Amino acid sequence: MATLNILVLPGDGIGVEVTGAAQQVLDAVAKRFKHKVRYASDIIGGAAIDQFGTPLRNETIKAAKRADAVLFGAVGGPKWDNAPVRPEAAIIGIRKALGLYANIRPVKVIAGMEDSSPVKNDRIRGADIIILRELTGGLYYGKPKRRWQTASGRKGVDTMVYSEKEIDRIVRVGFELARGRRKKLTSVDKANVLESSRLWRQVAEEAHKDYPDVALDHQLVDSCSMLLISNPTRFDVMVMENTFGDILSDEASVLAASLGMLPSASLAGLPRHEKGKRAKVRGIYEPIHGTAPDIAGQGKANPIGAILSAAFMLRYSFGLEREARSIEAAVNRALADGLRTGDIAAGGATVSTDRMTQGIVDRLGE
Ligand code: IPM
Ligand code: MG
Repeated sequence: MATLNILVLPGDGIGVEVTGAAQQVLDAVAKRFKHKVRYASDIIGGAAIDQFGTPLRNETIKAAKRADAVLFGAVGGPKWDNAPVRPEAAIIGIRKALGLYANIRPVKVIAGMEDSSPVKNDRIRGADIIILRELTGGLYYGKPKRRWQTASGRKGVDTMVYSEKEIDRIVRVGFELARGRRKKLTSVDKANVLESSRLWRQVAEEAHKDYPDVALDHQLVDSCSMLLISNPTRFDVMVMENTFGDILSDEASVLAASLGMLPSASLAGLPRHEKGKRAKVRGIYEPIHGTAPDIAGQGKANPIGAILSAAFMLRYSFGLEREARSIEAAVNRALADGLRTGDIAAGGATVSTDRMTQGIVDRLGE
């Protein structure tokens, strides 16, 4: 029996509904497998701007460090578009504060769901990719980063900077993940133009020497974005800079029917689960979708991205592989039985967030 101390940060919009759904599933799994879950929760994002005047408080960072793992919803919304500090600063800040440099975003086309994707069936059938996004460096955090007034008009700058160490540790996570799968790592860069990309490619080649069993190839991000749609089954694990990963992961989500289906784990490295010991790797687990203000509070949101994120949490932060698989299997059964929220219904009958969640809970034991 394990005690799982989880901090829940629902955030804004549908973040609240989907984290609630994931908690229901976690509770049901804990009951079945006789674990104990203890939740703490806190306000973050736009909700924290409203209540405390800031999207991310120090107390929240401390609570996240105390917890074994964090379940995160989503932050943002039109209400705060003109706020001096936007809600999104919360997720950017907490990733950095916890050192979560490795963002794992799996994109898997579930058999039978091909019709829900706008891409032709024969292109996407069987696609199973992990996008590994570097999460605490690059264009998001590089300095200088500012806007200013000059005599000839306004200027703005962001900086894409990477150290050898930052590149090395993320590509090694990529090699490790690939090793446990089909042993193919694609490193994505813009080495025909960018210096930081030229360094990235060099460091990836150097690290490759320690992983001779994994095939490494390099793709330029622009043509890679095309291949991701025209030939997605050629990819296994793909590793890339922060911004490239932000963009390509949304693009890849189209293969898997809907952004609402996809989980993510943001980790401070890959856990090594020694027998009988719980890994101590910090992680934030969140669906990759946003707050969807247009459907928030209406019970229409797809909870699967958040529920599969909870499965990821069990696997990566707690080493509970069987429990993680039971959630993934229940999701697959619910989908195979035809349960569909609006985003994946392709014009057919839809169920609410609650019905989908209950449908998954009901199938946990099967
Ligand atoms: C994501 C999101 C965030 C990001 C936003 C909300 C800051 O788009 O997790 O992909 O850009 O990283
Ligand atoms: Mg994004």
